[in-house]
Amino acid sequence: MDILQELEDRRVDARLGGGEKRIAAQHAKGKLTARERIDLLLDEGSFEEFDMFVAHRCTDFGMEQDRPAGDGVVTGWGTINGRMVYVFSQDFTVMGGSVSETHGKKICKIMDLAMQNGAPVIGINDSGGARIQEGVASLAAYGDVFQRNITASGVVPQISLIMGPCAGGAVYSPAMTDFIFMVKDSSYMFVTGPDVAKTVTNEIVTAEELGGASTHTRKSSVADGAFENDVEALAETRRLFDFLPLNNREQPPVRPFFDDVNRIEDSLDTLVPANPNTPYDMKELILKIADEGDFYEIQAEFAKNILTGFIRLEGSTVGVVANQPMVLAGCLDIDSSRKAARFVRFCDAFEIPVLTLVDVPGFLPGTSQEYGGVIKHGAKLLYAYGEATVPKVTVITRKAYGGAYVVMASKHLQADFNYAWPTSEIAVMGAKGATEIIHRGKSPEEIAARTAEYEARFANPFVAAEKGFIDEVIMPHSTRKRICRAFASLRSKKTQMPWKKHDNIPL
Ligand code: HXC
Repeated sequence: MDILQELEDRRVDARLGGGEKRIAAQHAKGKLTARERIDLLLDEGSFEEFDMFVAHRCTDFGMEQDRPAGDGVVTGWGTINGRMVYVFSQDFTVMGGSVSETHGKKICKIMDLAMQNGAPVIGINDSGGARIQEGVASLAAYGDVFQRNITASGVVPQISLIMGPCAGGAVYSPAMTDFIFMVKDSSYMFVTGPDVAKTVTNEIVTAEELGGASTHTRKSSVADGAFENDVEALAETRRLFDFLPLNNREQPPVRPFFDDVNRIEDSLDTLVPANPNTPYDMKELILKIADEGDFYEIQAEFAKNILTGFIRLEGSTVGVVANQPMVLAGCLDIDSSRKAARFVRFCDAFEIPVLTLVDVPGFLPGTSQEYGGVIKHGAKLLYAYGEATVPKVTVITRKAYGGAYVVMASKHLQADFNYAWPTSEIAVMGAKGATEIIHRGKSPEEIAARTAEYEARFANPFVAAEKGFIDEVIMPHSTRKRICRAFASLRSKKTQMPWKKHDNIPL
């Protein structure tokens, strides 16, 4: 009995982490503890912990006197809605969640198991960085985690939650995962903090301004989403997890659905305004075709001229990329190309079919774009679409001009089904610009007349349909039905690119 009681006592002690006082301090900052976070993330009672009694081996600076069980990170596996996931959750109450040699080993252990057993990894980051007392041993621990992030990339989905400090080289582990979520006002990420910034660049900036959730979801695009508090972030992570396959050899999960595949949406017939320069909200189309109107948006606050996220069709996950005419008229630019390219590559790596909704007048002109390398960044999206072998279905709602027409999952990049609404204008450029070039030097009246002629001849989907670049011109109201049928017909699609060690996507 004594021995059983000893185990129980040791467990109670380990679960207390850094003790009541530090737990209270964590709560006072509006943060949950490492274990409370795991409890909310996983199905109730599903968590199986590893290495609860692991302790560090450092003997410098009197550290042998303080060897807390677990060493500042809680690791193990459990389930989210019945599907397996590996988790690590850094415990800020134990030496600030700092990363020691053994702390790193615990993380590596569950990452290895995740790859071996084909289940995603969710990492909850809340750490003061390298355990200062351990010096280079701590850097080695980070390096070992980084290598596993790279090896696991494209094998199992990896999600990072930033729920406290994450600074210095430590940021590079989350940076190599598939999705990063932050909590507003209580998390930050930066390579060098405000003090160094002040010394080196004379900039005076707070930690929140430099690397808070708003900065990383709006400016840098390092993070994919930001939430009000820990509870919301964990609940939304569960929601995202339900869309994802467990690994790269499995299909995305199929959920029961309660939405008629043949649902007709008459309102879509009038979604596109008569005036080609009047914007409309592309999100409305996404919501109206998705099962139960459920759209999980990724990077909602960044490059709003393109929408990316997940929906389900007939219960199966589909990745959506859509130009948003409400912002910059839906133009492609550096930021939107990068955002969408990364999303398409994630989908392709994990066998998630891609639906592309197109209303794009072209690439954004100007020196800032050209100096910023829009050629290279735009090529990322083109490349991502062209190398993706997952089922690809494209619907053009209105403009598809020039290079942007080709980029946006056109037939020429081996899209499987290319549909166009009758309102589509698939052309080398807008009618006015084209006429002004062809009839250079003519009077304004002449140009106006020729523009009208050009519009009548080319501002429609039929020229492209005649050539077979558009498979079918469809009624807007039947879009859901048509794309569901298209994806259903592609369930056994198999194509391969020629063997290569790896590609050389323009980075
Ligand atoms: C050891 C650490 C620690 C660390 C915090 N603690 N960071 N112990 N190594 N890196 C301990 C503190 O001593 C304290 O212990 C407890 O954690 C909580 O820390 P506080 O400072 O009281 O908390 P707070 O005021 O919230 O400040 C959090 C903080 C600050 C901003 C993170 O602790 C801090 O600046 N820490 C040092 C950050 C740092 O320089 N890290 C190394 C960066 S280099 P007690 O016993 O009092 O509770 C790096 C390289 C990675 O990370 C490279 C990867 C390749």
